[in-house]
Amino acid sequence: MKIDILTLFPEMFAGVFEESIIKRAREEGKVDIELHNFRDYSKDPHKKVDDTPYGGGSGMVLCCQPIFDCVNHLKTEDSTVILLTPSGKTYQEQDAKRLSRKKHLILICGHYEGFDERIRYLCDEEISIGDYVLTGGEIPSMVLVDSITRLLPGVIKEESYQQDSFYEGLLDYPTYTKPREYAGYQVPEVLLSGDHAKIKKWREEMALKKTKEMRPDLKGD
Ligand code: ADE
Repeated sequence: MKIDILTLFPEMFAGVFEESIIKRAREEGKVDIELHNFRDYSKDPHKKVDDTPYGGGSGMVLCCQPIFDCVNHLKTEDSTVILLTPSGKTYQEQDAKRLSRKKHLILICGHYEGFDERIRYLCDEEISIGDYVLTGGEIPSMVLVDSITRLLPGVIKEESYQQDSFYEGLLDYPTYTKPREYAGYQVPEVLLSGDHAKIKKWREEMALKKTKEMRPDLKGD
């Protein structure tokens, strides 16, 4: 998969994309991530990317030209263009699954007070990572890249993400490791029994119980 990210702050991504699973996926060629500073596409003599809003108001608004030119330069018939914005559709694990099957994603990170509304015409989707406002689309882009990359073939074992929270609409079951007792807290006996059928049944019951307790809005019945 190819992922192009349009941002005014490419340095923000270094730590996240240069460690752990994302780093390995990049090195193994499973994902090709490229950062583009859309200021480089500005035709303004001072490389300006924003301006004051028509009709008045505070703050600066991202202009169309640098973002249109950058997207049009990168876009092919395989591209899905996504705008990160708090007014987009709320991102869920099922979106990560769906987007992990695409060939090419172009992610546009907004910044400052907002962007010229006409930038929306460039986009196939508008995504929000939750009902709160961040300073820009950089962290939301990292969230998309991380959640999508881990689902790409061969990045992590399929059975690891199949049992993850949300994968089948339920939260994950509880897990434990050594020692058997810690600070007076015991590992449930069933996990020490060696009876795999019993363990499987217990895990299913616990996933359901946890989902009902913690996230009654998920299916859980
Ligand atoms: N930009 C600022 N806040 C955001 C959010 N919650 N989701 C996506 N993009 C954003």
